[in-house]
Amino acid sequence: MNRFIEGAQIYLRAITAEDATDEYLSWINDPETTRGLATGAFPSTIEDLKKYIAEVSNGRKAIMLAICDTHNNTHIGNIKLDQFDWINRTCELGLLLGNKTYWGKGIGTEVCRLTLHHAFTKLNLRKVVLAVYANNPGAIKLYERIGFKHEGCLRKQIFCDGEYIDKYYMGIFSEELTR
Ligand SMILES: CC(C)(COP(=O)(O)OP(=O)(O)OC[C@H]1O[C@@H](n2cnc3c(N)ncnc32)[C@H](O)[C@@H]1OP(=O)(O)O)[C@@H](O)C(=O)NCCC(=O)NCCS
Repeated sequence: MNRFIEGAQIYLRAITAEDATDEYLSWINDPETTRGLATGAFPSTIEDLKKYIAEVSNGRKAIMLAICDTHNNTHIGNIKLDQFDWINRTCELGLLLGNKTYWGKGIGTEVCRLTLHHAFTKLNLRKVVLAVYANNPGAIKLYERIGFKHEGCLRKQIFCDGEYIDKYYMGIFSEELTR
């Protein structure tokens, strides 16, 4: 499979129907992984996964990239840009590192930087925004580190593990992206 964006620890390539594997399915059925995501309340099946991949890779409404380990080509997660607004030149970013053995190694940081660079230098976007839950300190730390700023908060918006938690909105302009 062609590498679309090359990094140090990982590379990014187009996601395909063949990526709808039991391994990927296990990520989105894992409560520890989905507590930071909008999924997880309902069980997902391989058919759901295939449908989702087909939807996001059909046309130019989103760019969903598989995150792969440079050394062994293992598919370890996905990053997505969607909600493109070509008038205001903005989009939204979503990130999932499904293989937990890869957490805490700077891969999320590397993947975000590469994808934001693509958004700003190839897609000619001006600003990228995202939503993150208050119970996800690792994600918040990585987004702050690469230059995202806190822009808003929906108080007690998300029901997670028996309690209501805040949902933050963060944004980054091209000139704010750190190296
Ligand atoms: C959130 C996620 C993308 C982070 O990816 P990652 O590769 O582990 O992130 P990085 O290693 O680049 O950076 C995370 C930082 O947060 C730190 N961290 C992790 N858990 C933490 C915690 N509970 N409290 C404080 N800091 C924490 C890490 O140590 C690291 O900091 P460091 O580099 O200074 O050591 C990944 O865990 C993931 O995909 N989780 C499941 C889905 C998800 O929550 N996606 C984000 C939705 S907004």
